[in-house]
Amino acid sequence: MTAPSSRYSRITGTGSYLPPKRVTNAEFAAELAQRGIETSDAWIVERTGIRARHFADPHVASSDLALQASRHALEAAGRSASEIDLIIVATSTPDMVFPSTACLLQQKLGVHGCAAFDVQAVCSGFVYALTVADCMIKTGAASKALVVGSEVFSRILDFNDRTTCVLFGDGAGAVVLEASDTPGVLATDLHADGRHVGILCTPGSVSAGQVLGDPLLKMDGQAVFKLAVRVLEEAARSVLAKAGRSDAEIDWLIPHQANIRIMQGTAKKLQLPFEKLIVTVDEHGNTSAASIPLALDHAVRTGRVRRGDTLMLEGVGGGFTWGAVLLDF
Ligand code: ACO
Repeated sequence: MTAPSSRYSRITGTGSYLPPKRVTNAEFAAELAQRGIETSDAWIVERTGIRARHFADPHVASSDLALQASRHALEAAGRSASEIDLIIVATSTPDMVFPSTACLLQQKLGVHGCAAFDVQAVCSGFVYALTVADCMIKTGAASKALVVGSEVFSRILDFNDRTTCVLFGDGAGAVVLEASDTPGVLATDLHADGRHVGILCTPGSVSAGQVLGDPLLKMDGQAVFKLAVRVLEEAARSVLAKAGRSDAEIDWLIPHQANIRIMQGTAKKLQLPFEKLIVTVDEHGNTSAASIPLALDHAVRTGRVRRGDTLMLEGVGGGFTWGAVLLDF
């Protein structure tokens, strides 16, 4: 397919969905205490900024959360699912080994025929997926993409490990990204460093009908913390340079919502006041690939992010992976 000249991609609608079960730190701490695991609201808030998270019921899968978020994004964009010609789902907690969660979402949306696939880059997944969709739109391979981050991270948490289980939650966020004569996405920057696979991983696998290894999340929190702050600054500077913009031109920083201290550290390095930081980690916890589109949609629906604002989206996560997308909303 030939790409028209000066073809850009632009977000035309956002949506999100959180499963109804909200668990506060105090409720979670009381639940863990029954199993002899000690934690507290004070510790979690002080070290992470998290106050609550949402957990999906056992029968609810990533594609179910993705479906609700997608419906909201399509409605906001004024599009029907049948108009979409590309579906990308970023997830580390797919419904099944295969087919992809994107294909299951396509089926649940009641459409067929368009390209649909998953992207696996853990908490950087949405930034990876948005970059792929942007490239496909710019080359003319797609015109109207549904880009989703969806996770049931609770399925891979070790509820006997207080150093990880208090950090994560479930949810989904989505955007409709469409071809446009004006940008839109200004610049993207993706990276990975497989030397760090061990600091954040879920090392189990399926073989001969059995789960081999440990299928629960493992993390060296301090190693992740140090690496995250460094690479998030590098990725932000890289997209700004590519787009010929300065940090002063960023209206909103929407980083992966893992830990308020990592997010504030990144804002400081970019000399952005904390008021320009979109924060939802307090209410959502870390929802991995869903966190950025969830935060974006929340900011749009509460009236903070407006049309024309310049947004810096930044992801970082297992792999180790990281990346940034600079865009005019
Ligand atoms: N409740 C109470 N105490 C706890 C808990 C808890 N939930 N968890 C750990 N502690 C204890 C530890 O056992 C330790 O006790 P000790 O001093 O007696 O040994 C003490 O608290 C301090 O532990 P640290 O690990 O040093 O705490 P730290 O300040 O580093 O905070 C944290 C830990 C929050 C995990 C931090 O390192 C962090 O946020 N790292 C980044 C994590 C992250 O962003 N992960 C997501 C990446 S995205 C993705 O791809 C999934």
